[in-house]
Amino acid sequence: MSDDKGRNRGVAPVTYGEGTRLPRGDYARARPDYTCEQDYAQYSAADHDTYRRLHARQVQQLPGLACEEFIAAVAQLGAPERIPHFDAVSERLIKATGWQVVSVPGLIPEEAFFALLAARKFPVTDWLRKPEEFDYIVEPDVFHDLFGHVPLLFNPVFADYMQAYGAGGLKASRLDACELLARLYWYTVEFGLIATPTGLRAYGAGILSSSGELRHSVTSTEPKRIAFGLRRLMRTQYKIDSYQASYFVIQSFDELFAATAPDFTPIYLEVRALPVVEAGAVLPGERTFS
Ligand code: PHE
Ligand code: CO
Repeated sequence: MSDDKGRNRGVAPVTYGEGTRLPRGDYARARPDYTCEQDYAQYSAADHDTYRRLHARQVQQLPGLACEEFIAAVAQLGAPERIPHFDAVSERLIKATGWQVVSVPGLIPEEAFFALLAARKFPVTDWLRKPEEFDYIVEPDVFHDLFGHVPLLFNPVFADYMQAYGAGGLKASRLDACELLARLYWYTVEFGLIATPTGLRAYGAGILSSSGELRHSVTSTEPKRIAFGLRRLMRTQYKIDSYQASYFVIQSFDELFAATAPDFTPIYLEVRALPVVEAGAVLPGERTFS
């Protein structure tokens, strides 16, 4: 980058949505690319215990609700009793798919985020929620980032998708299309469902790290579950502070990768010309899953 846009200057980045509240991380300890050392000494015995309880509650819910690729890889995070050392996870991840886990102080600006993904580095917030946030936290913490996102990075196709997303993000920044691309991320990486021979399963990290939404997304009759369509996702608004009103269903990670491979430059123009779709809406002729 020729200017300093998106480079850490020791202050919290501006984020969308949540009014005036600043991200809670300490950005003074981050490098220009926003990565930092995982401050392992900061974790108290209570933090490790909170992590252990979050992990245990989530793992017992996975069968029948999470996709097999996720379930198979959760053990790669290491012993569930303590917050993992990111370096140890990276060692296994590099061997599997060439990805690494890097530590960050919290949410980071979009361009810095895209640049890390494009380099096959997944930023994980190093602090953990407080016990009183056990059931719900707005900002991503180490449990969401690590438990929710990292297992699928062990899957080769999904790993390639995430890198392509990062490269696509750098391009979208230049095209002023980050909002459209963010919707794709939201409805796949964070809240995606996948159809399997034994029924719908979750692969999105926002679902997989949530105690309540995991069952809700797969089994509740409330939300709409709609077949994945690239343009449809880019048009659809989302809520960040409640269960999703719509989930989008892919048939396979290969389908997701193939559907997102084309150059988005003309697609952004097409989508901008179409009306925005509200979360929870079903369009005429659209197929839904129950
Ligand atoms: N093909 C997209 C583009 O040209 C890049 C991309 C791939 C974006 C995968 C998201 C996910 O911008
Ligand atoms: Co996330």
